[in-house]
Amino acid sequence: MIVPVVLSGGAGSRLWPVSREALPKPFMRLGGPLSLLQRTLVRAMPLAHEGRAAIVTNQEYYFRTLDELRALPDGARTRITQLLEPAGRNTAPAVAIAALWAEELVPGSTLLVLPADHLIPDEAAFRDAARAAADIAADDSLVLFGIQPTAPETGFGYIETGEPLGSGQARRVRRFVEKPDAARALEFLQAGNFLWNSGMFCFRARAILAAFEALAPEVLVTARDAWARSRETATDERASIDAEAFARCPSISIDYAVMEKSENVVVLPSRFGWSDIGSWRAVAEQLQPDEDGNTSIGDTMFVDVRNTHVQSEDRLVATVGVENLLIIDTSDALLVASRDASQQVREVVERLKARN
Ligand code: GDD
Ligand code: MG
Repeated sequence: MIVPVVLSGGAGSRLWPVSREALPKPFMRLGGPLSLLQRTLVRAMPLAHEGRAAIVTNQEYYFRTLDELRALPDGARTRITQLLEPAGRNTAPAVAIAALWAEELVPGSTLLVLPADHLIPDEAAFRDAARAAADIAADDSLVLFGIQPTAPETGFGYIETGEPLGSGQARRVRRFVEKPDAARALEFLQAGNFLWNSGMFCFRARAILAAFEALAPEVLVTARDAWARSRETATDERASIDAEAFARCPSISIDYAVMEKSENVVVLPSRFGWSDIGSWRAVAEQLQPDEDGNTSIGDTMFVDVRNTHVQSEDRLVATVGVENLLIIDTSDALLVASRDASQQVREVVERLKARN
């Protein structure tokens, strides 16, 4: 009994000016007709027990999310509940609330926790991996999806793999290190027995609640209180999480609160294509380049240009004689960045905040 839980919280500041507080990453379209949130649901809903799923998101995005649900292709939107946070407390409290909700609704259910801002083009391979993960999670282990690392990225969790589990691909997790510094990331990459954490998780609702109880009891106690005060007014469509109680939840990610500490973690190495599209460079890498290495979304023109990504919302953007650039044009802001500086785009957002 799989219940997908989509985390749709963060603003994605490295994707400015398209992703902002008014239009966070999950609502971005990246050239296709469906948003990242809609694509996540289309990918996951065929797995959902009786069409049940939750989206944990900020209350400000309720109507926006509802519009997205209403525009989903048939069959993908049946009974999705929005669990509405008054303010984000990071992923551990969000998952704890979702587990409490799910365990009441479908006792014994298995959660498939999915960020709303990843790209996974091969839906069938993703669903095969999710079903395999749910089978593994039946013994109350916490299952991660491991991605083969390709660079010493510091923005990911690193999973040291241990003994194989049964005859399949899955392995026990020897160690989980969330966001190591550059030196350790390089050491893990070179060691050869580390995978990246994809940020998707599969576990029984009961198992993750037990893990919170043992490893992060303050998350569970505060989330329980918040849920107890919220469920009265909850409907199939939405539940507003009590603001006062939720504000007492520690703001911590599930990676630090549970995955680094638990001895009951299993990783399923996954071969489906995956990108967390954390930056414009990562977006560009998902698109088919022309013979000069250029990629584009919208109305664009390249004259003697190499290795450049141009994205335009509502007018022509022409480039001449440049290389290694990221150019993102929207109706009220334009970004021009070196392709190698795509991580620094978040500094624009920080400066804008300081200016306001
Ligand atoms: N509802 C809700 N509330 N969602 C949230 C909140 C919150 O307070 N905070 C974050 N999220 C959502 C984000 O929108 C995203 O979809 C997902 O939870 C993960 O949060 P990120 O902030 O993007 O985490 P990260 O990228 O730094 O790290 C995680 O993902 C990596 C892979 O992309 C970790 O799990 C890493 O270990 C992992 O490698
Ligand atoms: Mg992320």
